[in-house]
Amino acid sequence: MNIIIDENSHVSRKIQGFLLTAAERCVTDEGIDPSLVEISLTIVSEGDIRELNRLYRDTDRVTDVLSFPQYDDLTEIDNDEVIALGDVVICDAVAHKQAREYGHSYEREFVYLFVHSVLHLLGYDHMTEEDKRGMRAEEEKVMEYIGLTRGFTLAYDGSESAVDDDSGDAGVNDEYEEGGKSWYSEQDGDVYSELMRRAEAVSQKAYAPYSGFHVGAALLCSDGSIYTGVNVENASYGAALCAERSAVASAVSDGNRKFNAIAVFSPDGNAIPCGICRQVLLEFGSDIDVVLKDDDGSLRVTEISRLLPEGFAL
Ligand code: THU
Repeated sequence: MNIIIDENSHVSRKIQGFLLTAAERCVTDEGIDPSLVEISLTIVSEGDIRELNRLYRDTDRVTDVLSFPQYDDLTEIDNDEVIALGDVVICDAVAHKQAREYGHSYEREFVYLFVHSVLHLLGYDHMTEEDKRGMRAEEEKVMEYIGLTRGFTLAYDGSESAVDDDSGDAGVNDEYEEGGKSWYSEQDGDVYSELMRRAEAVSQKAYAPYSGFHVGAALLCSDGSIYTGVNVENASYGAALCAERSAVASAVSDGNRKFNAIAVFSPDGNAIPCGICRQVLLEFGSDIDVVLKDDDGSLRVTEISRLLPEGFAL
């Protein structure tokens, strides 16, 4: 299976893994050899999906996902050569909005929209009640298979807007689009929640007599170890060290340089890595996840390369 992601579309590696497993299951269920299959995926803005919806479906409004199947009839498929099933186009701003509306994670919403669309590429439809039931059953089977089910059925019962690909809503979701950043929300209970707990706990130890802004950071390494750090200020203000760099120094001093994620927390306001810390983190990998906590207690995550595009490199 090859999912060809448009070069301007950012999809985290974690989500890519889900997409692959889900799509392989979808095609296998139809008796197609997944190793022959190609699917294109493009992520677009609300403006762009609206334009595509207008052009191809004569519907001038924003929607969550559009599917462009390559085959009208799957029996045309020759099981010996590459099968390009078609194109999936997802609007991530709408996916974010729907995830929040339905109270589940962005990744679950995104993967769900993708599965829905792949099933369209495979000839599924929801024109009649019977078709709709069949499509929904397959969607649920696939989501369960990849383990993204928690709260899923409940959240979608009766909520046609999220599953119907012509169900757009012209609302705007700029919050997640500003500056090209693409934050996704993380479910409680996974490893990032633990990482955030560690950042919160250590923030108590910050030495911040000048700013009164206490920061804690917890750095998750690829071997599963976690290093923490706090900000350490100085009477000569410019000598202050941020919590993130303090955690990085601690990990590197211990021989650990492979970082998966860093959680940052301040009890005194919104902590987000400063420019210098972004550059320092980027030194160790462009795909390090940065985990922050919002006022409502939810976590949001993005990759460091999204926070520092075009960082300096020698
Ligand atoms: N600070 C951090 O430790 N990390 C951040 O993400 C932003 C700022 C510290 C530096 C300084 O001690 C205090 O916060 C106020 O700028």
